[in-house]
Amino acid sequence: MRKPYLAGNWKLNLDQAGALDLVGKLREMVGQRTDVDVAVAPPYVYLPAVIEALKGSPIRVGAQNMADQVSGAYTGEVAGTMLSDIGCDFVILGHSERRAIYGETDKIVNAKVKLALDAGLDVILCAGETLDERQAGQTENVVHRHLIEGLAGIDAALSSRVTIAYEPVWAIGTGQVATPEQAGEVHTYLRGVLEGLWGDVAAETIRIQYGGSVKPSNVAELMAVEGVDGALVGGAALDADSFGAIVAFNS
Ligand code: 13P
Repeated sequence: MRKPYLAGNWKLNLDQAGALDLVGKLREMVGQRTDVDVAVAPPYVYLPAVIEALKGSPIRVGAQNMADQVSGAYTGEVAGTMLSDIGCDFVILGHSERRAIYGETDKIVNAKVKLALDAGLDVILCAGETLDERQAGQTENVVHRHLIEGLAGIDAALSSRVTIAYEPVWAIGTGQVATPEQAGEVHTYLRGVLEGLWGDVAAETIRIQYGGSVKPSNVAELMAVEGVDGALVGGAALDADSFGAIVAFNS
């Protein structure tokens, strides 16, 4: 049985006071619950304050990105080792916004995944098709490539530190959530890809989150789908009541 994993990707939002207010409320709401895993991914600069505010809470803290290099002359970048140094638990990699807006290729994503795991960070690796790709019948090809190329050269022994987030690009920030059938089809497909890559034990263990317009009103329906093990939430993770309701989907 895979434990549900609900993570909030704050993207480029909130200020320090808002970040601390949000995690203070989440900390109360989550308490010491162990039946779900809960995580937040604030902007880099708020990570130390959020990590401090969540000390003693089971809520995990991660970054939204990291450098594809270890160190050196890379102005503006933050290395995986720096994130683990300040107490981050994980990093989100390969988000469609990074791919589309900042030109991240699967090769870059793969370099980051390797460096993150080397640095002791867990990884949420995102995969998902655009509307054009879906309409052209390319969904499986695209998510297959995101997984196979993103995870290339990574040993099955590290698979327990990887989570996959299926995020159809057309569902992100649009209010147009994937139907349970659409999510279920791709999650099942992705688990098969993981089985081919790392074997059946790893494929049964790895959690596959759904992301894209997850709200309190649709989370239970999505979580009821076979193979949907959690959610990666954008807009609805910026408010404590709304993310709290998502975390409490099963109560
Ligand atoms: P929304 O929940 O705002 O659609 O964003 C999803 C997402 O991109 C999470 O990484």
